[in-house]
Amino acid sequence: MSPFQLTRTLPEDATEAALRADVQGGLTAQPKTLPPKWFYDAYGSELFEQITELPEYYPTRAEREILLARSAEIASATGARTLVELGSGSSDKTRHLLDELPGLHTYVPVDVSESALTQAGRALVAERPSLSVHALIADFTARLALPPTPGPRLVAFLGGTIGNLLPAERARFLASVRALLAPGDALLLGTDLVKDESELVAAYDDAAGVTADFNKNVLTVVNRELGADFDPEAFDHVALWDAEREWIEMRLRSRTVQTVKIPAVDLAVDFGAGEELRTEVSAKFREAGVRDELGTAGLELTHWWTDTRGRFALSLSTAR
Ligand code: SAH
Ligand code: TRP
Repeated sequence: MSPFQLTRTLPEDATEAALRADVQGGLTAQPKTLPPKWFYDAYGSELFEQITELPEYYPTRAEREILLARSAEIASATGARTLVELGSGSSDKTRHLLDELPGLHTYVPVDVSESALTQAGRALVAERPSLSVHALIADFTARLALPPTPGPRLVAFLGGTIGNLLPAERARFLASVRALLAPGDALLLGTDLVKDESELVAAYDDAAGVTADFNKNVLTVVNRELGADFDPEAFDHVALWDAEREWIEMRLRSRTVQTVKIPAVDLAVDFGAGEELRTEVSAKFREAGVRDELGTAGLELTHWWTDTRGRFALSLSTAR
């Protein structure tokens, strides 16, 4: 068996149908929205990697600090033989965990970005000839069919990506993760924490404008896949802190009155001057809330670790 296998669980035409449905639903809604998974074509995945290196974007560095300090503890607490990572992207930070899991049988990175999966998977098996990697192109919010590898199973969901789901989606998602686990299996979850507004907003509105390009890339994806005529330059990137819901909201604000044609869904979408399209939320968490949400899904929080500056948390929870 080859050490790197890639399984496409989403037929390409299903992906396009899903994009059409999301665009049709989201751009005819009031206010207009688009779901965040469409940011990540090859260029979007590359821009996200640049975001992780920005001086303002602290979550990646904070989470890496925790992984470096705690991976050995995670390994002994879980004894994982299969590591499944949802939204794995470049798998870069995951290397610290892989370094400490001697009994690991298979690493299963799961992502919608085929380019990120292939790059990361090829690099990993080249670095670690004894590691078997079975990558899945899949939507982690849908039902996942995992390869039949030995337990105990550890599911990792890093980067604070859980914050990109809305509260109701999050509850469904955590229940579906629980369903992938046998009693005693574990979830390693990265959550960004509530903190000072200025630090949060800067992380999503960097001085170099990389996050603005990333946000606008979703328009380029809709242009390419659905033949739309969005002019990304006719929109401004907006990042706002919603203090009540404790999330950052990313929007694209139309600079002028304009109509955008989207032939594949037979739509002409009117934007008013200053009208905003919501592209993403990034919720920030507190320990009690994370414990509750996990508990509701049948997961018991056993460890809670933060970086030294208390900006980001990794938690380990066990399926009951
Ligand atoms: N885990 C990495 C990457 C985080 S960025 C890190 O911590 O740096 C979020 C990743 O999730 C991207 O690679 C994106 O392609 C993927 N992603 C977003 N929505 C997804 C979905 N619905 N299903 C599967 N992958 C998704
Ligand atoms: N999971 C990342 C986060 O919420 C994704 C992200 C970072 C992001 N910066 C972004 C998504 C800008 C959209 C726009 O931190």
